[in-house]
Formats: sequence, structure tokens, C-alpha cells
Amino acid sequence: MKRSWWKESIVYQIYPRSFNDTSGNGLGDINGIIEKLEYIKSLGVDIIWLNPIYDSPDNDNGYDISDYKRISEDFGGNKVFDELIEKIHSHGLKLIMDLVANHSSDQHSWFKEAKKSKLNPFHDYYIWKDGKINEHPNNWESVFGGSAWKWNKETEEFFLHLYTKNQPDLNWENPRVRKEIYSIIDFWLSKGVDGFRMDVISLISKKLDFENVPKEISFKDVMEKFYANGPRVHEFLKEMNREVLSKYDIVTVGEGPGINLEKGLSYVDENEKELNMVFHFDHLTIDFGPKGKYDPIPIDFIRFKKIFSQWDFLLADKGWNSIFLGNHDFSRIVSRFGNDNKYRVESSKLLVTLLMTLRGTPYIYQGDEIGMTNISYPSIDYYDDVETINAWKEAELNGENMSEFLRSVHLQSRDNARSPMQWNLNKNSGFTNGKPWIPVNDNYKIINVSSQLKDSNSTLNYYKEIIALRKTNSTLIYGEYKDLKPDHPQFFIYKRWDENHNFLIIHNFSEKLLKWENVSIMDYNLIFSNYKIEKNQIEIRPWETRVYKLKNY
Ligand code: GLC
Repeated sequence: MKRSWWKESIVYQIYPRSFNDTSGNGLGDINGIIEKLEYIKSLGVDIIWLNPIYDSPDNDNGYDISDYKRISEDFGGNKVFDELIEKIHSHGLKLIMDLVANHSSDQHSWFKEAKKSKLNPFHDYYIWKDGKINEHPNNWESVFGGSAWKWNKETEEFFLHLYTKNQPDLNWENPRVRKEIYSIIDFWLSKGVDGFRMDVISLISKKLDFENVPKEISFKDVMEKFYANGPRVHEFLKEMNREVLSKYDIVTVGEGPGINLEKGLSYVDENEKELNMVFHFDHLTIDFGPKGKYDPIPIDFIRFKKIFSQWDFLLADKGWNSIFLGNHDFSRIVSRFGNDNKYRVESSKLLVTLLMTLRGTPYIYQGDEIGMTNISYPSIDYYDDVETINAWKEAELNGENMSEFLRSVHLQSRDNARSPMQWNLNKNSGFTNGKPWIPVNDNYKIINVSSQLKDSNSTLNYYKEIIALRKTNSTLIYGEYKDLKPDHPQFFIYKRWDENHNFLIIHNFSEKLLKWENVSIMDYNLIFSNYKIEKNQIEIRPWETRVYKLKNY
């Protein structure tokens, strides 16, 4: 296994609009990030990933970019951003930006031109199909509901938008589009940015026959077989790598809807020179029911473990994994995979122990380090997220029981992860002096950074300690992995080892008291746990996690 700085790094993801507001406009900003760099550094992480902060009409909170080379004035503009890069680097940290290259905003000058006429030089920057106003080119649906095609009356054509109708898909078949994107990448890298998280990068190459999707297949299959992994995706990524990425010492992680076990390695195979890592969603779609995300089903824990083992095996020798349990598109990890009630603290600590002891680069999402939980706004009017609101409208049209649907929103809405960071006991949790763009979770009085800094047993202090453990044990980074109890319904028990050390990690993903009998614990030194442990205590308590190291190895 080749060693690299980005394999040894831990990433902290910031959702800027919800992180820290210094201007009082209710929206987090770059100065707010600068103000918290000491805090971020104190966690022990290495890389900051920022969700998009470019110019945008914000139909999808910045994932609809209207100028790729400008930082939105809402966040402070380009000058403050230059200062941010410099300060991040002077703190010994690195910065990755979000690159949203599958689509632009419909307010981008390219699209404003493109829609004017078929002869416009920018027309071919997007994907157009002739048709009649009510006869859509095919039955493709957008990820956020409704047809993936929108009529453009000026040219009497449809354009493709796999996300909202304000996010037209770019035409990567056009070499000029690709050149533009590479020049954008180069623009930011030459400023000193250390890499990119590439939004829905698996979708950039389209299947040009635009075949209808069969009625009976699941959305997951539609994604894997129709929208993602198009015929030229690897050619485009290799070109991007050759033309620009390879000229810098940077890190890339591709967001990969539709990237499954079959396709995973092809994107990150070190010999192929495309991307360093991808985010696959096999474990994050595990509770999607027959009708998708807003039709949640209980988590199949054995499958959950199997997904980690399969991906570890797939990438073990030739690629590298990204290890994450949540981000700005999913609910809070403690509410989803842990227990945000009685065992909130224990299970938050367990989940980060999982992140820090698997093979791959771990990603922490802002607020998880204090165990922030899902938010249950009282009605749909409080929600901002376009995905949630579209899903709500669709459910209404389908005559669903809306009070039940609100419960699904409470479980699954992306706004769960987007409520403001909980800093302290001040008004609005110290996030803003103004009116927050989305309401703060009331539980900030219990869950906040400032109280946890003072409590040596807090989730926050545990995060710092387990991060330090990982950083100082390269076995936990590069070592082999094996699940020792794949069929156990509550335990996740695995070893990590190399020629120097041998770790045994035990997690109890339940409220039950469990016994682990197969291994003589006497042979091991306990080096980490989220509980106080009496000598040789065999019973593993609710949401307990333990890291052991073999004595004579
Ligand atoms: C990615 C982003 C998500 C966004 C979508 C469309 O999935 O993470 O927030 O809505 O792409 O750009």
C-alpha cells in the first residue's frame, strides 16, 4: 500500500451557511470559519472541506453555481477567501472545495446565453432535445422529483436537469465545456486550494440514447444503470487528471451516486489515475424503503457491517476508501445509526470510534463532534431544503397521510444536518446575533461546544482523544481489516493489524448487555473505551466501544 498524506488525514466538513455567522445576517460566513480555526485545529483533524460558497441563487444551497470563479458576497467574497486559505495553511491545515461540474445554475451566463437560440455559441454547453411542449423526450425523473426535462420556449426544446429545474446538466461531450471546468479547477488550485470534493461526478457522462427507464425498477437501479457510470466517465476523469489534477499535490474525492461494488474500484484504482477516493452510498441508503428516502425502513445491521467489509476488501490493495456516516445530505449520525436518547453520548462516542478504526480516510461532519441530533421542526413551513419540500409536495399529490409523512421528514430531511452549529448557551446557540436562516435546535442548551470543552468526559473531548489515537497508530490507517463476527445482530467486532501491531475493536450497537466470549481478553491491553472499565470486565454495556491491543505481538 502506497502511503500518502491524504490517506493519513482526517477531514472535517463545514457547511458554511450553518457554521458561524459574524456579520449578523443569519448566514454563516468565511470570517466565521476563520474565527473558529483554532477550534478546528484543536480537534486534531487535517483537512477542511467546505460545501459550495460560490455565487449562486441558492435554489439548492450553493449547488447551483452562477459564477464558478467568484465567492459569494454572502460569505465574504474572494478577498476574504484568499485570507481563509492563508490562515488555514498557517494553522497547518488543508482546504478542499466543492466542485459542482455536472450542472450549473440556470442563472449562469452560459445558460442564459445557451437558451437564447440554437445558434448561440453556448447552446451546446447543455443537453437539449427536440420535442413538443407536452411530450417529454423520455420518462427520466429528476433526483428531486418530477420530470428531468424542462421546456425552453425560445428554442422549442427541452433541456436535461437531473436535479432541480434550476440546475441544467452540462454537456461534457462538448470539449469546450470540459476545458472550462479544467480552467476553473486550475483557478482554485493555483490559489492554493488542496483538492476537491466533486459533486455527483459519476453523472457527468450521459448515455446518449436516453432510453426510457423501465417502470418497475427501483430508483437505486435507475441511478446505477441509467444516470451514473456513463460510457465516457472514465475517459473524462482521466483527461481531467492529465490536464490539471496531476499538476498539483492534491486530494480528490468524488461523490458517487450509482457507484456500487462493481464500479467502485474503476474510479479510484491507483493505476488508472482518475480520483483518489469516492463517496459511495451503499450504507447511507440502507434505510431507504420501497418508495425511497422518505419511506424509511429499519436498518439491517448485518448488511450495514457487510457493506464496510465488502468495500474494504474491494479497495484493499489498489484503491482507498472514504469512511463516513453522514454529511449535509443525510440526517445526524447519532440519530440514525446510534441512539439520540438515553445513550446519546455513548453512541456518539461509539460511532466516532468506528470512523477512526476503519481503513480509509475518515470524514467528520460539523456538529457530530458534540453529538448534535436530528431536528423535528413542528411543520413543513420550517423546512428549507428543496429535496424535502419537493418530496412533501409529491406526497401531498399522492394523497399520503401527511402527519405520517412529517414523521419521515423528521427522520430523513437533509435539514437535520443543516440546523446551525451549537456553540454555546448564548441566543441562537452563539451561531448568529441575527435571525438564523434556519432555526437552531432547542437542545443547544444541553448540546453545545462550550459546555463540552469544560467536561473531560464529553463527546467533544472523546473525539479529540480518539482522533489522536488514530493519528499516532499507522496500523489503524493502513493495517488489514477483518470482521470477526459478521453475523452477530448487535456486535461489530473486527481486527486491524500489520507487522507491528494487532488491534481488536468491539462495538455494541444496542442497548443490550452482551457477552464476548471467544477471545481471551487477558491477552490484550485495553487502550480505549467510552465507559470506565473494571479489570477484565467481560460484559459489554449498551453502546459500549472498546479498542484493545494484543500484548505479545
Ligand atoms: C450532491 C450534493 C447535494 C446536492 C446535489 C446536487 O448530492 O451533496 O447537496 O443537492 O448534489 O448538486
